[in-house]
Amino acid sequence: MNKKIYIRTFGCQMNVRDSEVIAGILLKDGYKITDESNEADIVIFNTCSVRQHAEDKVWSDIGRFKNGKILGLVGCMAKNYQEKVFERAPNVDFVVGPSDIDKIPAIMKILISDKKGTVPFGDSPFFERKIWETDGVTRPEDIYHTGYYGDKERAYVVISEGCSNNCSYCVVPFVRGALRHRNYKDIIKEIKEAVDLGITKITLLGQNVNSYIYEEVNFIKLIELVNGIRGLKEFSFVTSHPKDTPLDLFKAMADQDKLKKYLHLPVQSGSDRILKLMNRDYSRKFYLDLAQSYRKMVKKDALTTDIIVGFPTETEEDFQDTYNLVNEVEFNAAFIFKYSLRPHTDAARMVDDVPKDEKERRHKLILDLQKEISNGKKNDLS
Ligand code: 5AD
Ligand code: SF4
Repeated sequence: MNKKIYIRTFGCQMNVRDSEVIAGILLKDGYKITDESNEADIVIFNTCSVRQHAEDKVWSDIGRFKNGKILGLVGCMAKNYQEKVFERAPNVDFVVGPSDIDKIPAIMKILISDKKGTVPFGDSPFFERKIWETDGVTRPEDIYHTGYYGDKERAYVVISEGCSNNCSYCVVPFVRGALRHRNYKDIIKEIKEAVDLGITKITLLGQNVNSYIYEEVNFIKLIELVNGIRGLKEFSFVTSHPKDTPLDLFKAMADQDKLKKYLHLPVQSGSDRILKLMNRDYSRKFYLDLAQSYRKMVKKDALTTDIIVGFPTETEEDFQDTYNLVNEVEFNAAFIFKYSLRPHTDAARMVDDVPKDEKERRHKLILDLQKEISNGKKNDLS
């Protein structure tokens, strides 16, 4: 069989890795992967739901694909909209959520045989078959071991799937399900397999890596195990939640020679009132102390963050708290987002009352401040 598949990826590193996993299991089944959407028989959109803007882009792009191709929408939007995708984008043939990606090869077989014989849904020639799988809970371990990585030297390695934090703005726990940890033995096995293929740098991935625990192995133990893998030259991890970041982790970071001195520690807001409404479980002071300890304990460090401006009820004073925190911490980089109301979240019950213009003003102010800080840091280094 020489059917060609084109995969377009939106969203975070987790999605980048998921697209590789999908590519890997399809390659194993005899499909070819192409970078050219025109020459593909099957087009897959691996989608993100984190903000409205990310979804809008998919809805507008997906309309352009059909022309006899089999079209799939997978990933976070698939779970967010489920079979409703077919109403909004009638050209889509299949919808697969993040916890069901292992089913894609079987779905492909059904759809390809349908196309060949033009077998319609049921007996009616008026309906094409639509398939959706969005209720999965776990992924089989073998999908991580096809040996397919997008890069020859660097690889992402998933350590946990889903998220059980309850950040009030965030759709991830809904779309990716509750937190599950992979067995550390499987993680180590995957890294060794990758190293055998020539990979020398890896990034451990999870929504909240610090809370990793499998039997007696916690995150600190895991990074010690990874550090010991022969042939691996460098590794890092994302993302960390401040509430689950112990000082012991900084000590371990300082001690492990292959571990990059890089921490992505999203603060989201510098206002205690907003942090509470976001359900982040830490205070402004806690975060500032943590950032300070990190800088003290982990030398030659880099610290980056995520910030949301315009969360419901955010006042000028709340915003100033965030602005001042950014000024004080001097992150190496900060990703600043305008609050976007997401379905299935606690914050969706609050009124999205910060006007669009005001969100834009706050966004630009912090963006400009961070630019200045980042430029200053570049000058420091040169
Ligand atoms: N609106 C705006 N930004 C969001 N993020 C997550 N959910 C939302 C939302 N509803 C941001 C957070 C998170 C990053 C990946 O995306 O800052 O850390
Ligand atoms: Fe990644 Fe979250 Fe977007 Fe899903 S919704 S792709 S987990 S950023």
